[in-house]
Amino acid sequence: MNLDLNGRVALVTGALRGVGAKIAARLAEHGAVVHAADIDDKAALRMDVTDRAAVAAAVAKIEKESGGLDILVNNAGLLANGPFDATAGEAWDRLVAVNLTGLYNCVQACVPAMRRRGRGAIINIASVSHEKGGGAFGNVWYGTTKAGVVAMTKGLGRELGPLAIRVNAIAPAVVATDMVRNLLTPEVRERIVARIPLGRLAEEDDVARLAVFLASDWSDFITGETIAVDGGFLRT
Ligand SMILES: NC(=O)c1ccc[n+]([C@@H]2O[C@H](COP(=O)([O-])OP(=O)(O)OC[C@H]3O[C@@H](n4cnc5c(N)ncnc54)[C@H](O)[C@@H]3O)[C@@H](O)[C@H]2O)c1
Repeated sequence: MNLDLNGRVALVTGALRGVGAKIAARLAEHGAVVHAADIDDKAALRMDVTDRAAVAAAVAKIEKESGGLDILVNNAGLLANGPFDATAGEAWDRLVAVNLTGLYNCVQACVPAMRRRGRGAIINIASVSHEKGGGAFGNVWYGTTKAGVVAMTKGLGRELGPLAIRVNAIAPAVVATDMVRNLLTPEVRERIVARIPLGRLAEEDDVARLAVFLASDWSDFITGETIAVDGGFLRT
C-alpha cells in the first residue's frame, strides 16, 4: 500500500493546461497510464465532457486500449464571475453543462468500467466557492455548481462504496491559471492572499499532490469527502 499507481489507468478531463495538466503529470509520474482529455483541439485525446456520446466513446476506447479504467479526475470546469445578473442565460447553461452535466456524463461512462475492474477512484475538482455560494472569485452561479459537485461527491461516495469505488473532491482556493489570470491584478491578488492564513495563492501542484493521494491505496478508507486545499482560507 503506497502512492504507487503502477498498473492503474486514469482519465483526467480538462487536462491540457492549468490544474488538470499538473494532475495528469503527477499521476503519470507515480506510474499511472494517463489519458489526458480536453475540449481543445491541441489535446491528444479531444473530448468535450458535455458531449455524452463522445465521452462514452472515449471511455470505451480507453478501456479497450489500456485494458481497464481505475481513476477518473473530473477537472474540466468553467468560471462565472461578477454579480448575479452579470451571467447571461446562455452562460449559465454552459456553466451547468460543463461543471455538472460533464461530471454526470463522465461518472456514468466510467463506473461500469470500474465495476469490471473491481475498484475505482473518482476525484472531483470543486472549489472553496462551494461553501458560501461564490466568493473571492467565482460568483453565486459558479459556487452553486461547485456545491452540486460536493453533493454529488457525498452521494456517490455512499452509493459506490460497496463497489470499492471511492469518490472524493478537492476544493482549491484561487490558483493563478488561465481561468483567473486576467482577473488577478496585483491589488486583487494582495487582497486574496491577505485572507489566506498560509499567505499565498494555491498552486496547481498543491491540488495535484492531493489528487495522487486520493487516487492511491493510501486513501483507501476515505470516500465522500471534500478536502479544501486553501491555506486555511475557509477557516477564517
Ligand atoms: N483556477 C482557480 O482559481 C480554481 C480554483 C478552484 C477550483 N478550480 C477548478 O479547477 C478546475 C481546473 O481549473 P483551471 O484553473 O485549471 O482552469 P483552466 O481554464 O486553466 O483549464 C481548464 C481546462 O478545461 C478545459 N475544458 C473546458 N471546458 C471543457 C469541456 N467542456 N470538456 C473538456 N475540457 C474542457 C479547457 O480547455 C482547459 O484546458 C476547474 O474545475 C475549476 O473550476 C479552479
